[in-house]
Amino acid sequence: MMKIINVKLSHCEYDIFINDSGFNFEAIQSKLINRKIAIISNDVVAPLYLDSVQSELSPFNSEIFSHILPDGEQFKNQDSWLSILDFLAENNFNRSDLLISLGGGVICDMTGFAAASWMRGIDFIQVPTSLLAQVDASVGGKTGINHLKGKNLIGAFHQPKAVIINTSTLTTLPNREFKSGLGEAIKYGFINQPNFIQWMDANSYGIKQLDLALISELISQCCQFKTEIVQQDEKESGIRALLNLGHTFGHAIETITQYKQYSHGEAVAIGMVMAAELSVILNLSNKNLRKELENHLQDFNLQTKLSKKIEASSLVELMRLDKKVINRKHRLILMKSIGKAFIQKNVCEEKILKAITQCQ
Ligand code: NAD
Ligand code: GLY
Repeated sequence: MMKIINVKLSHCEYDIFINDSGFNFEAIQSKLINRKIAIISNDVVAPLYLDSVQSELSPFNSEIFSHILPDGEQFKNQDSWLSILDFLAENNFNRSDLLISLGGGVICDMTGFAAASWMRGIDFIQVPTSLLAQVDASVGGKTGINHLKGKNLIGAFHQPKAVIINTSTLTTLPNREFKSGLGEAIKYGFINQPNFIQWMDANSYGIKQLDLALISELISQCCQFKTEIVQQDEKESGIRALLNLGHTFGHAIETITQYKQYSHGEAVAIGMVMAAELSVILNLSNKNLRKELENHLQDFNLQTKLSKKIEASSLVELMRLDKKVINRKHRLILMKSIGKAFIQKNVCEEKILKAITQCQ
């Protein structure tokens, strides 16, 4: 059965469609007709799903192009983004045409950014195929690429016209990437949804066994949680920053290891533990917080510590480039307890160093 979640913002609205088989493009056919379509994918996902997406689109459109990028976070960069723009130029794409992402969060973010920047903004539709992209990256309009100096430093807010989630694509997702998506899902529970943590605990066996009915419920709850926050604060002037729980640490971990050692979800899980440790160090939460959080992550086989020591000062240096930093002062997402995250301004570096050191 298809689930639909509506995202309503001041200047636009769109639906997230969650299907358990097929892409069901009929639901958005009016957005597909009379325009060229470019599907942007990568060399891992395209061999698996490009043919089915093209054939499901074909009743609505015959001008379908595809552009395939190399797979991996290390290719979420200016070269890949420019190659999409070159492709659009070569094929005379104009403002009335459409991009469709087909892949994980990397492809969703890059396709969105190409759509935001081509001719100052064209339409795009997200078709996320990883769990992480289905619970988070495809929703809310943050698009972008990495800079050599840090993750997601280049980008734009640009909302999709629809999000099409086909949960059956998860059957080919490697287990490590599935766990990584669970890391971002658990994040919502730690931010402001303690009941969701209980729900995940109660259903952990089925979730880990990829029971698609449960996974579809998990995805729809996460999309709902994210939608509620994005609707209140689309451009992150306040509450949306909570969605960055664990990310300031996580992004620094990913950057310093050149995206080779930790997936995004793995780095965020470790980052959430560091945020918990820091909350305890600053006497802003109860002493059990870190342990409680680690237990939940471990239940889903997520790593809670760095596997190799990283110099804490090098991580802090990268954290200075975080988008939440204001006037050179660290602004971090911390927790009072599970489900009670908050924004803490002016966090002193000495305490951050201590938290990182105690999580190795
Ligand atoms: P990813 O896109 O690299 O996908 C992980 C791996 O799984 C890749 O090798 C990918 O090709 C493969 N894959 C994807 N779907 C598959 C499938 N169905 N079958 C087989 N293989 C498949 O990484 P990710 O974890 O999906 O996303 C992480 C990215 O998302 C990061 O760049 C992060 O910054 C971004 N992100 C963005 C937002 C946002 O709001 N824009 C939110 C969270 C994360
Ligand atoms: N993933 C963080 C955000 O969308 O704001």
